[in-house]
Amino acid sequence: MQSHRVALLYPGMYSAENPDKSLTPVPPKAYLVGFLHPGENPEESLSLLTELGELVSTQGLHVVGSQIARLRRIEPGTLLGSGKVKEILDEAQGLGADVVVVDDPLTPSQQRNWEKLSSLAVIDRQEVILDIFAGRARTKEAVLQVQLAQMNYELPRLVRKWKHLNRQRGASGGLGGRAQGEQQLELDSRRVRLRIQMLQEELAIVRRQRDVQRQRRLDKPVPVAAIVGYTNAGKSSMLRRLTRADVLVEDKLFATLDPTVRRFELPGGQEILLADTVGFVRKLPHLLVDAFKSTLEETKLSDYLIEILDACDPAIEEHHDTTMNVLEEIGVGPKPVLMVLNKWDLVPVEERARLLGRYPDAVPLSALTGEGVDVFVQRLAGLVKALMPERRYLVPHSEMRALSQIRTYCFIESEEFQDDGVHIVARVPLNHLSRWDEYLSFPVRPGAL
Ligand code: GTP
Repeated sequence: MQSHRVALLYPGMYSAENPDKSLTPVPPKAYLVGFLHPGENPEESLSLLTELGELVSTQGLHVVGSQIARLRRIEPGTLLGSGKVKEILDEAQGLGADVVVVDDPLTPSQQRNWEKLSSLAVIDRQEVILDIFAGRARTKEAVLQVQLAQMNYELPRLVRKWKHLNRQRGASGGLGGRAQGEQQLELDSRRVRLRIQMLQEELAIVRRQRDVQRQRRLDKPVPVAAIVGYTNAGKSSMLRRLTRADVLVEDKLFATLDPTVRRFELPGGQEILLADTVGFVRKLPHLLVDAFKSTLEETKLSDYLIEILDACDPAIEEHHDTTMNVLEEIGVGPKPVLMVLNKWDLVPVEERARLLGRYPDAVPLSALTGEGVDVFVQRLAGLVKALMPERRYLVPHSEMRALSQIRTYCFIESEEFQDDGVHIVARVPLNHLSRWDEYLSFPVRPGAL
């Protein structure tokens, strides 16, 4: 979904025959610019550029060309030297591009300076990601968060937007003189600031409601696993395969923008919660890391992680590293991780042994076909067990309520009805370890934890 703001950035999308300025059905053409930083591996730059291409296609643009520029020294006004910038813009123009998409973040003035050198719109990776997020946010909180991130991104760039609009409409006398433009700019800045304030207030209310719901959930001693991984790795498919949940699955980056928490019953009857999370990406804009703190909060509160990797993606190692780095960045402490090599159905047979050698603890499976999912469930059950110490209880027949609680929240190893009550061997979640202590049938063994 294209926002009005993005539409403004693509002058080529307006036409004289289309006076109401609605979008033409032709996808805008994009020219991509990647960077090779000092000491950087050229393969890394290429992989980032490929990823930028996927992001841009997800956004609905058609890539007509690209190049990787060597960034030796940062020019404050233009990032690259102005001669190089001109060369890039000329090449993009020659290929019929409407927009140049730059992989590194551009400051508002760098962006303006690039645009001064040609008639093309120039955007950066941050803006692409913001735009994709804007089209995909589903809950009220996510919508507000994305809008806030967009407004914060836009505020210092309003000058540029006005210049663009003037350039597009100037010839036909649309907006009038410079003074009027400046007045309008002032009005716009005030409006954006006011909107930021309103969004912050609205978000605070929505977050309070969300915290209450989350607290209710945490009060129940059900272990929580957060499903994490790179965008498009198959997290939603996995959640759907396990829980038959109606989770959005799309072959587009960032199909998921809100955590979706589902119950899952392990063999033996124990319930756990599985939380889907937003997909990671390299160079996630900081505006979005902040904006999505609450989405990723699920990861912090979880007992363990299920990391889904796309096994047929050549950048699997970078994806794994990115996921772990972002988790570290947002302050997720060390947690047990169950790693999954997903899309195993697409991995060529000759490649399989290498991957299993590289990730010996991972479970290969296909969320699509279901192959390997039973092994994964067994491993998951093992992991949950290890996180839950063993306790032996003797629950009198008169205490059926406690018995049903233990059955619901613990992993039951064995259960025997005898004359004096029900003898249970159970694995108990850490946060409720002492909840049924009055029914302990004999003292806890030393080292049972
Ligand atoms: P984000 O929401 O972007 O974070 O994506 P995600 O990780 O939730 O990925 P999703 O489950 O939406 O899957 C992305 C694409 O991969 C979809 O087209 C799925 O059908 C496809 N896919 C997922 N798992 C498998 C698999 O095991 N095999 C194959 N062949 N395709 C899969």
